[in-house]
Formats: sequence, C-alpha cells, structure tokens
Amino acid sequence: MTDELHSARVRTRTVRLTVNGVPHHIRVDTRATLLDTLRERLGLTGAKKGCDHGECGTCTVLVGGRRVYSCLTLTVAVDGAEVTTVEGLAGDGGPHPLQRAFVEHRAVQCGYCAPGQLCAAVAVLAEAEAGMPSAVTPDLSAPPALDPAETRERMSGNLCRCGCYGRIAVAIAEVAR
Ligand code: FES
Ligand code: FES
Repeated sequence: MTDELHSARVRTRTVRLTVNGVPHHIRVDTRATLLDTLRERLGLTGAKKGCDHGECGTCTVLVGGRRVYSCLTLTVAVDGAEVTTVEGLAGDGGPHPLQRAFVEHRAVQCGYCAPGQLCAAVAVLAEAEAGMPSAVTPDLSAPPALDPAETRERMSGNLCRCGCYGRIAVAIAEVAR
C-alpha cells in the first residue's frame, strides 16, 4: 500500500478527555486505544502495556470511576469522559491510602503490574461500598464484605508475574477496613 493510499484511509476525530482533572482536546486516529493515547499523546506512562490484548490488566485505568482495560478501549469511545490513571490517585495529602498500603505491605516486586493493580483496587473498594455483588458474593440481599474470597475474585483480572497476590490482598484488606 502506498503512503498516499494509507493516509487517505486514516480517519481522525477530535475528542475531549479530562485526565486526572486536566482537560484535553486532542485529535486522534479513530483506531487509537485509550492506552496508546494516554502513553503516546499525553505522556502519561503510568498505565503499562503488558499483553495489549485484555489478558493481564496492567493497563487498567478508571473511566468515570469504573475500571477498564485501556488497551481494549478506543479513545473515541470515551469522548467526554473523566479518566483517572495511577498518576492521578495521589491527592493533596500525599499518596492514596492504597499506595501507602502497597508500600507498607511490600505488595510489589518489579512494580510493572502495580499501576493497574492500584487502579483496579480503587474501583473494587468503590464497588463494594456501592453494594455491587461479584460472582462469589454469597448473599445478594446484603452488602458485600470485602473478605479474601471477594477481593481475590474482584482482582482476578489483574495478573502479577512476580506473584505478589498475597501481599496485594493484605494491602487492600487494610484499606477496606
Ligand atoms: S495490556 Fe491491557 S490487559 Fe494486558
Ligand atoms: S510486581 Fe512484578 S508483575 Fe507484579
């Protein structure tokens, strides 16, 4: 395919995104994933590219407070959304409580999965707080408690090649109390 033919087929669109509280108005390829837009266009490299196929969770970010695999999300599909990446979790008072707990409980080794684990964990706490059940919630008529089984089920979309699962679960349990 010639360069002229290729460029004739590329479609772009302008999208508005608020990322970690900062508004952006950018023109993107309609095929661009949110992960690539965050990393390549906005310079936010916290969300990591692991599999790029929706299998590992290292690219997890929050869109409207809900966790998504940003490698499976087209940027144009979230036009107008509020996006939070790991860079946006810390507040004025310092690191997010989960970030502190991950450090205190040594829930990371290489750290590659940590941005996705942290964003997923923030959403898991919110889901439990909102009373949303999971596949292992025993009683659908009662608010789910974030016990070890619930935490493991809800975090099962995030893989850790270093095998830090036990410490990650302890860190989440501490903040969930
Ligand atoms: S990089 Fe998105 S799920 Fe693996
Ligand atoms: S800490 Fe290395 S992949 Fe999770």
